[in-house]
Amino acid sequence: MSDKQQALRDLFFACRVIPVLTIARVEDAVPLAEALVAGGLAALEITLRTDAAARAARAIVNDVPGAIVGVGTVLNARDLAVAEDIGARFALSPGATPALLDAAAAGALPFAPGVATASEAMAAMERGFHTLKLFPAAQVGGISMARALGGPFPDLRFCPTGGVSAANAAEWLAEPNVIAVGGSWIAPAADIGAGAWDTIAQRARAARALWG
Ligand code: 3PG
Repeated sequence: MSDKQQALRDLFFACRVIPVLTIARVEDAVPLAEALVAGGLAALEITLRTDAAARAARAIVNDVPGAIVGVGTVLNARDLAVAEDIGARFALSPGATPALLDAAAAGALPFAPGVATASEAMAAMERGFHTLKLFPAAQVGGISMARALGGPFPDLRFCPTGGVSAANAAEWLAEPNVIAVGGSWIAPAADIGAGAWDTIAQRARAARALWG
């Protein structure tokens, strides 16, 4: 396994629950990240879904030293370059095109491509990726899908996102091939917009309590 892949695996295994964040206003980024880090969640996925996303991620990299910033919704090589430029520590995609896999394999950033099928997992493995985002996890079969993929692909580890929640995160994390989970339930966009930092920190603490 490459150093990049090992770094990603170590990071996911240490952090286990990764809030998926859609940030509309740059000024929300730092207090949001501070609330999550205070609640015990260090690894954050900032999705490239808003105009503010890249500036928000950069603000967290610069001003919240306890945060481990990942960039999500990386759809192409250009987004990957944005993530590297921001100083992100890792990147994720909901899927994977051949061009994106090639760019990520050649780049410096630990990257988790998204997969939803066995064939997609095989395409990622062919390029050296063994720690994958399973997306959209609940919609493509949930825990039984992760278990089924564990048969032919015992060396793969998954970070499921999509439909993971406070109610089922512990169940997901108990699966031997689930290394981490991601989701928006800890800090939904509406709570970020409302500046509900205490509520978000409380949800982060509850999520942090899910593992040892
Ligand atoms: C996403 O990319 O939107 C994440 O997978 C979050 O999904 P969720 O909102 O169901 O947690």
